[in-house]
Amino acid sequence: MHCLYRLLLASLLLLGFVSEKVLASVLAIDYGTEWIKASLMKPGVPFDVLLNKDSKRKIQASVGWKRNDRLFGSDAFNIAARFPTDSFSSLKYLQGVPFESDATSYYASISTADVVKTVRGTAALRRPDGTEWSVEELIAMQFAYVKELAEAVADEKVQDVIVTVPPFYTQFEKDAVVDAIEIAGLRTIALINDGTATAVNYAMTRTFPSPEHHIIFDAGASSIRATVVSFGTGASDAKASTSKDSTQITVLAVGYDRMTGGTELNRRLRDILAADFQNKHKRDITRDKRGMAKLWKEAERIKTVLSANAEAMATVESLAFDIDYRSKVTRSAFEEACSDLSEHFIAPIHEALVRSGLTLNNISSIIMTGGSSRVPMIQNAVKAAFGEDKLAWNVNADEATVLGAALHGASLSRQFKTKDIRVSDISPFDVQISYLAESKTQLAKPRTIHTSVFPPNSKTGTRKTLTFKRKEDLSLKVEYKWVPAVGFPTELLEVDITGINEAMANLTEMGVLEPVVKVTAALSESGFVSIPEAVAYGEIKDDSLTGKLKGLFGGGSASEQVPLNAESNESADPFEIPGTSSSSSESATPSEKKAAPKGPQTIELTIKTRFPSLAPMNALEKRKARDRLAEVEYEEKAKQRKEEARNMLESYLYRIRDLLEDTGNTESPFVKCSKDSERKAIERKLQESFGWLQDKADEAETSQLISKRSELEALERPIVHRYKEIEEFPRALNNSQMWNWSTRLFLTEARQNLTAEEKGGPLSKYSKEELDELEKTLKEHEAWLNEKVEKQKTVKMNEDPAVESSDLKTRAKKLEDHLQRLVRRKVPLRTKKTSTSSSAGTSETTSVSSASSAEETPRPSESGHDEL
Ligand SMILES: *[C@@H]1O[C@H](CO)[C@@H](O)[C@H](O)[C@H]1NC(C)=O
Ligand SMILES: *[C@@H]1O[C@H](CO)[C@@H](O)[C@H](O)[C@H]1NC(C)=O
Ligand SMILES: *[C@@H]1O[C@H](CO)[C@@H](O)[C@H](O)[C@H]1NC(C)=O
Ligand SMILES: *[C@@H]1O[C@H](CO)[C@@H](O)[C@H](O)[C@H]1NC(C)=O
Ligand SMILES: *[C@@H]1O[C@H](CO)[C@@H](O)[C@H](O)[C@H]1NC(C)=O
Ligand SMILES: *[C@@H]1O[C@H](CO)[C@@H](O)[C@H](O)[C@H]1NC(C)=O
Repeated sequence: MHCLYRLLLASLLLLGFVSEKVLASVLAIDYGTEWIKASLMKPGVPFDVLLNKDSKRKIQASVGWKRNDRLFGSDAFNIAARFPTDSFSSLKYLQGVPFESDATSYYASISTADVVKTVRGTAALRRPDGTEWSVEELIAMQFAYVKELAEAVADEKVQDVIVTVPPFYTQFEKDAVVDAIEIAGLRTIALINDGTATAVNYAMTRTFPSPEHHIIFDAGASSIRATVVSFGTGASDAKASTSKDSTQITVLAVGYDRMTGGTELNRRLRDILAADFQNKHKRDITRDKRGMAKLWKEAERIKTVLSANAEAMATVESLAFDIDYRSKVTRSAFEEACSDLSEHFIAPIHEALVRSGLTLNNISSIIMTGGSSRVPMIQNAVKAAFGEDKLAWNVNADEATVLGAALHGASLSRQFKTKDIRVSDISPFDVQISYLAESKTQLAKPRTIHTSVFPPNSKTGTRKTLTFKRKEDLSLKVEYKWVPAVGFPTELLEVDITGINEAMANLTEMGVLEPVVKVTAALSESGFVSIPEAVAYGEIKDDSLTGKLKGLFGGGSASEQVPLNAESNESADPFEIPGTSSSSSESATPSEKKAAPKGPQTIELTIKTRFPSLAPMNALEKRKARDRLAEVEYEEKAKQRKEEARNMLESYLYRIRDLLEDTGNTESPFVKCSKDSERKAIERKLQESFGWLQDKADEAETSQLISKRSELEALERPIVHRYKEIEEFPRALNNSQMWNWSTRLFLTEARQNLTAEEKGGPLSKYSKEELDELEKTLKEHEAWLNEKVEKQKTVKMNEDPAVESSDLKTRAKKLEDHLQRLVRRKVPLRTKKTSTSSSAGTSETTSVSSASSAEETPRPSESGHDEL
């Protein structure tokens, strides 16, 4: 069923690729706390999950070092047992979080790595040698690793990427994702909420004749998310131009628990084992990093065993203090230790339902996905709360998200023709803008005004226009109304809008009566909030009497601060502002004076954005990070090249040694074709090289390793050449003789034809001169060949040949070309000297002249073409 589905998907996709040449591939990454899944969309490449170097469908989200060698995936994860502070896993917990936050302290409870604070106030990991890598850099390394895997499959550079994020990711965390993408040398097409991506995957093979609501329940390693999604056909909003067979996915609400997931279960299990160890052996294992790392790995294994069995045996040899640890863990003890978590497992579903305004009755199914959805404890909690028949297992719990993301990425890139799935997503946060009101009098206290621009569940990919009546410069604070997660700041941006006074004065001068400031706030498709535009705006009304009167009226109450006013909730077009419809009727009325400008007027204002709390990495920081990564990669490549050069030198030396040791064997080509003195010279060089390899190769440069091999090769080359020539010479000679022979045959026949012509026979194709010329070439060839063959007869096997087979070939080619030039001719070039008046004769003449031009002209034009 699973295979069939994948096949179906692949064929659906391959149906319509627009034009093969311009397409760039799209990479999708589902970056999880524990696993990375990736998928590549490229014409001609089957649409599937990318395999790692061990052909696994998922890659452990870890990076680490074994001394100086960088490791990825399970290698990096497993190294923790030996180098507990050189293995970095579960980095998603630290992505974009403030150093002083619950996330960081939680991380310390699950990881043996050293977490330190960056100058930006975020987290970095410190290696035992003191090197610090920011979380962005470490995640970028993993993205770059995936990029390399994708490029091997795509057989080209891969740049565009879509990455999944949890729906609760704040702008700070999303910034960290986008920064890591950039450091990895990739380009962000979009970030997509993981529940939404799973919904796209669900819709891929289904149609929805009538609207359906489902909850995507995603139980991951670090968190649990519930996404209420409505599926339907055609557009839900009338303005979009949708075809009838498009599928519409609308996210209605999300619920989540940021800190409950598979990792927390792991942690509880590990703590059971640690307490048991302490109890049995009276030693505190929590202070032993290696032991804790081993225990963590064992807890993970035990957790899986307990998913299917009532009890499991934990066994770790030499866990710590030289103690081999063994202990039985029962599922009931484990569940007991996690009993408080059941509520956390299901709360996200309740929350999402409430926020969506729906009830359980409206929900067709709860689609179970995510690695931890297999844990019985979590399954049972959901079953108990919502009824077993609501649960659906109809998507691939591991891969639905990344495949959905890839599909969405492909549709965004507009380069692929995929099933038409429209996605409308939301942001769960309450984003407000606050600013100081313009004071009416000097004495009045400044008043801060707060306005909600993007309330919870606002659609992403929308803009709003805020209108202000003021003359002073404006400073806006864009912030979350409530703390988005423990330890996070609320302030997102500080935006200074300047030049208002002058712009207002200019507009007034131009004849605008009530100029205003219009500020655009945007909530991007990926959920980023920004202030992309601010203008001073006004209209020049007609200056008829009524127009003036209207203006006076308006102007009378002008000085009052107009509260922020969100004009349009979802204007996708930022340039809608100038041409508002309300004014169009007025400006359309004919006016008496023609000279003055009329209609809407805008003046761009200057916008400066600052990050008052947790700033994303700036351009310089990102460039430095890229350079650091490039340096690591460069060193790794250089090391790899050096190892290859060393291996090649080594195996070459052994091969030469074997050849020399075979001296007794007179049948060996090497022995046959070499002189004693040559073998001695090689022997000396070989001994020297072996010595060098042993003493100096470790510190040697790659170029030295290569030149050591070249020196020896230079000595071997003439011997190899002789041997090759001995093999090649008979073939080349045969070829020469063949052309010799063919030419001779041709000449004999052609001369016969010439003689026949003289005796009144048919016209010969060739003149005597032409044949004489060919004969001359042939004689020269024969003479040369005879001389060389004679010389070669006296040459010994271990001497350099008197004539190279390549020379033989060149000479033969010359003869061949001369011969071919004549043979190719279809009809005689000449006419008969004795012209008879027969009609056949004349017709032949005409046909000859036309044929001759046909024969002669193509040649120069052909060669001319070749030069192009
Ligand atoms: C949800 O269910 C209620 C009754 O159970 C019904 O009245 C309502 O129309 C449903 N809403 C949707 C969006 O289907
Ligand atoms: C206002 O008008 C003056 C004079 O025409 C011009 O130099 C200036 O750039 C204008 N300022 C703005 C903000 O448009
Ligand atoms: C903006 O949204 C609110 C609530 O969603 C709604 O009541 C109002 O009519 C909308 N305004 C416009 C201009 O669409
Ligand atoms: C020369 O070529 C002919 C025809 O290809 C072949 O029969 C003959 O064996 C060849 N002789 C040698 C010495 O290669
Ligand atoms: C000799 O004449 C015959 C008969 O016309 C023709 O087929 C043949 O190609 C000619 N040979 C040469 C070498 O000109
Ligand atoms: C070339 O061919 C002619 C005629 O077949 C022959 O007499 C002569 O020996 C050949 N020359 C060589 C070098 O093979």
